[in-house]
Amino acid sequence: MNPLSRVLIVSSDAPWLAAVVAGLSQSAAGLDNPYGLCVAGVATAAEALQRILADGEVQIVLIDKGLHEAGEAQPAVALARRINQLRPELSLYILLQDDDEKLLMEELASRAIDGYFYRDEQDVGGWFRILAAEMGEKAQTPFYDRLKQYVAMAKDSWHTPGHSGGDSLKGSPWVGDFYEFVGEGMLRADLSVSVPMLDSLLHPTGVIAEAQRLAAKAFGARKTYFATNGTSTSNKVIFQTLLAPGDKLLLDRNCHKSVHHGVILSGARPVYLDSSLNRHYGIFGPVPKQLIFDAIAANPDARVLILTSCTYDGLRYDLAPIIAAAHAAGIKVIVDEAWYAHARFHPAFRPTALEAGADYVTQSTHKVLSAFSQASMIHVNDPDFDEHLFRENFNMHTSTSPQYNLIASLDVARKQAMTEGYRLLDRALRLAQELRSKIDSTGAFRVLELDDLLPGNMRAEGVQLDPTKITVDISQSGYSSDELQQALFGRFNVQVEKSTFNTITLLLTLGTTRSKVSRLFDALLRLAKEQRTPRQYHRLPEIPGFSRLACLPRDAFYESGERLPLLDDDGLPNPALYGRVCCDQIVPYPPGIPVLVPGQVIEAGIVAYLARLLKTQKSIEMHGLVEEGEYCVRVLRDDELAALPSVGWFN
Ligand SMILES: Cc1ncc(COP(=O)(O)O)c(C=O)c1O
Repeated sequence: MNPLSRVLIVSSDAPWLAAVVAGLSQSAAGLDNPYGLCVAGVATAAEALQRILADGEVQIVLIDKGLHEAGEAQPAVALARRINQLRPELSLYILLQDDDEKLLMEELASRAIDGYFYRDEQDVGGWFRILAAEMGEKAQTPFYDRLKQYVAMAKDSWHTPGHSGGDSLKGSPWVGDFYEFVGEGMLRADLSVSVPMLDSLLHPTGVIAEAQRLAAKAFGARKTYFATNGTSTSNKVIFQTLLAPGDKLLLDRNCHKSVHHGVILSGARPVYLDSSLNRHYGIFGPVPKQLIFDAIAANPDARVLILTSCTYDGLRYDLAPIIAAAHAAGIKVIVDEAWYAHARFHPAFRPTALEAGADYVTQSTHKVLSAFSQASMIHVNDPDFDEHLFRENFNMHTSTSPQYNLIASLDVARKQAMTEGYRLLDRALRLAQELRSKIDSTGAFRVLELDDLLPGNMRAEGVQLDPTKITVDISQSGYSSDELQQALFGRFNVQVEKSTFNTITLLLTLGTTRSKVSRLFDALLRLAKEQRTPRQYHRLPEIPGFSRLACLPRDAFYESGERLPLLDDDGLPNPALYGRVCCDQIVPYPPGIPVLVPGQVIEAGIVAYLARLLKTQKSIEMHGLVEEGEYCVRVLRDDELAALPSVGWFN
């Protein structure tokens, strides 16, 4: 299927517009046109905006500088800015009368504009070639293109990996099926740094550097880095770059576990901010704004603030005022956008964290865009960015044998987001809307909207919901979440994203189709028609508040400690744990929030909470507990604690 790239020309000069549309269309028909350039004209800014929002094929807009709009001093500038706000991935050209106009445009809106043409030149053939080249740059995938080129050269491999382009597997009576299953292309493209023409992820100067440059432009960053071990590693790289042992860090207690691991690796001194909690559904939301502002004011020595936006359930902060407050206090802001890589490419999701001013953003390109699992991006906008330090840390965490298919998939995912992201996200949003009302129509299942998800005290915080993440209250269906997942999987071939005790969560992405929506609806409707008796809301015991740190998390983690049982001989919470300092991060899943972090003092309420979870929630996973016949907690010995240098900081 050939691509289509619409060039939209905006001019109030009707005869001129008709002539240019005709001229460019003629060029499109007669000249080499690999990106399917086609041309349309509109007479007003309003029509242009409407067309840009309605038509995902629009790729380039040409605005006549002489555009007239009542009440607007510089209508062409205003339109360019507005387009930039709505769809920053579009290329914008201004059609000028003379050089003075160019100077004016550069002064007013140079950053929003990709180029200029002189209106009266009427060199439509020349313009067409430039516009085609513009599409060519967007459609480039420098790394993927070079990878394909190399594979096509069919060089004999005298280097790693050992499967040698799949030759060790191909035709084998034992493992030949793996060759067939994975496919020749994937195996031939599984190459290594031994191939210089493919650049090096650890020292990019060629096609990887170019692919990262294009990604930075697409996502609105100064610099972008490709990561092949997910956002988990990306978070750790940034932590190690920004935080030295003992440096203070403000962090949401509900951050992903990689963030907590980053605290251990960097040796940072964390100040935990309690996330809001919707007790009814057991769903964690953002940290209340005031709590963040208070933490910023109370910790003038903090170096970094990290927040997750949006959360797994799709809740996103009103980031701009928070980031502004952090910056005013000299604090750098990292935003974990693991679930929000698509946001730049549709106005319904914006502003992105970078647009709201974040210094560092990590994104799991693989979670919601089309990259392979583990393929993530780190975006940097920090004006004080220390590239050398970052590189040292990036290289510390990056394999010297990164998977080249992952890098190619990042290149391709960026190209797709730039060229058809808006159209596909628009479709995902429409499908999400349709699915939401279909689910509600079953009577037994109900989609939770923003106000349902947010705790009551968070309603005026400017938090928004990403509609492509759908959380469904299942309690009226009579099914438990385990039973429902099994029924959907076994009877209807549906695998959902995640569940809590009362909810399931569905994720719509660029790949969600109408058929999938209708199969899911059909499944839920059939289950609803069984009319089981509704269940009581399943209430999790309330997670205890954070107690206090006795030392740096890193210090506690690296001691051997001793292992004490969670329950005593009578099966009750073990009092021997009270007052001891935990060495590990203990995370019951769900809900996935650390109940204890390394260095934290264990209190009676925390032990009681863990004991109660184990007793009442048979299917819960307890990450961080030692399983040695019975559940144990690794705690610091008294002599270890007394010898730790950081203990004095916390007394
Ligand atoms: C908020 C958040 N950050 C980071 C990660 C880690 O991302 P990745 O799977 O790309 O390592 C996750 C994964 O679920 C996450 O939910």
